[in-house]
Amino acid sequence: MENFDGLGLSSLVTSNLAGLGLHKPTPIQAEGIPALIAGRDLLGLAQTGTGKTAAFGLPIITRLIEQNRRPNPKTVRALILAPTRELATQIADNLTAYAQGSPIRVFRVVGGASIFVQSERLARGVDVLIATPGRLLDLLERRALSLAETRFLVLDEADQMLDIGFIHALRRIAGLLPEQRQTMLFSATMPKLMEELADSYLRNPVRVQVAPPGQPVEKIDQGVHFVNQGEKAALLAEYLAKHPGELALVFGRTKHGSEKLSKLLTNWGFSVGSIHGNKSQGQRERALASFRSGEVQVLVATDVAARGLDIPEVRHVYNYELPNVPENYVHRIGRTARAGRSGRAVAFCAPGELAELRGIEKTIKKAIPVIGGDAPVGMPEPSAGRSGGGRNGGGGGGKSYGRGGAPKGGKPAFKGPKPAAKHAKVASEGGNARPARRPSRRPKSEQAA
Ligand SMILES: Nc1ncnc2c1ncn2[C@@H]1O[C@H](COP(=O)(O)OP(=O)(O)OP(=O)(O)O)[C@@H](O)[C@H]1O
Ligand SMILES: [Mg+2]
Repeated sequence: MENFDGLGLSSLVTSNLAGLGLHKPTPIQAEGIPALIAGRDLLGLAQTGTGKTAAFGLPIITRLIEQNRRPNPKTVRALILAPTRELATQIADNLTAYAQGSPIRVFRVVGGASIFVQSERLARGVDVLIATPGRLLDLLERRALSLAETRFLVLDEADQMLDIGFIHALRRIAGLLPEQRQTMLFSATMPKLMEELADSYLRNPVRVQVAPPGQPVEKIDQGVHFVNQGEKAALLAEYLAKHPGELALVFGRTKHGSEKLSKLLTNWGFSVGSIHGNKSQGQRERALASFRSGEVQVLVATDVAARGLDIPEVRHVYNYELPNVPENYVHRIGRTARAGRSGRAVAFCAPGELAELRGIEKTIKKAIPVIGGDAPVGMPEPSAGRSGGGRNGGGGGGKSYGRGGAPKGGKPAFKGPKPAAKHAKVASEGGNARPARRPSRRPKSEQAA
């Protein structure tokens, strides 16, 4: 497909796309848009950063323009659900840009913002509403809106929306929409179990699958670095110091740990923000805005930032702690290498995280190359075919980055940390496997995460 002409989009939308510098549809857009314009339900699976937002946004806007009518008061013509506030905001910004110059009005409702202001706006009726499920339910309970006239439903990050955290809210919301509607589900991952659930929301759907689901983008240069939990902060600092001025997203597992890590890195002289569930909405928005603009180069986040966020300048993703949901690895590293760019993803694997690492490799059907540290002795082979010396089993095949497993290269520019204990205790968070080598140094504030 050479350009957006011929997909059935409104000419206003195509000219907006050109103005945004988008000239050629991505595969999910080329295949998905005509089916959606034709009114079909759709399950769209395509890798991170390949334009799924426009794949559902453009046909919805086109069809709403063609219907040529205004929403009735307190009604919504199209509803898009997303798992996080930041993602909902981003989708709203994207769709507003695609619909520019048309009568289509896009509005977003999320928690952490005034429900009164949102209710007031909804009173006039909205063409496209983007919402997080919790806030939408609150608004529905207050009768601030009705979904009785909503003919389009999108679940972005569908597998997460169908997961335990959202499924109850989703069932209630979907039950309020008319049966006669068009439903579209999109994600970069779709575990088998979820797909069965997904089916119950779709009618005679078209399935558009661009690559086998769950595959990371090829342009992400992935690596795993074996390191004890207590040495991770120092190692991260060394990696960060090697790429000054480049945006890096760091994922931790807990809110508390992520906050501590961001403070530690700040003390060491890095320009750091953080985003997690313990921050106010204002703080979350400011942190993200500073990171987007490059004012802050490092963002430490929990999985709240794992899905959907599009910050093209992100060059590095560090899995400071491995996610316990393997699909989230794919989403986390997908915050880099957006829209054909390249990026780098480093996973820090402590002895207690080997089960997570194996789970991830099974999901992506690939062994992640070892780029530092030593694999614990007796590390079992993953079923995903780790053959031919990917893993550095006890000082063999894999590359070692020398001293304490630090990355190769010059002296780090950061101011700390200081070595605290000569003989660091090997972290043994429940794993049987033990590191082949004792750490040579350990930062004072290793409790960072
Ligand atoms: N046809 C296109 N040509 C070039 N760039 C595009 C095109 N469509 C979308 N993009 C850009 O690609 C980037 C990623 O798009 P988007 O956020 O929709 O990806 P996604 O598939 O939803 O990813 P994720 O799975 O992470 O949510 C955005 O910056 C978007 O502007
Ligand atoms: Mg997306």
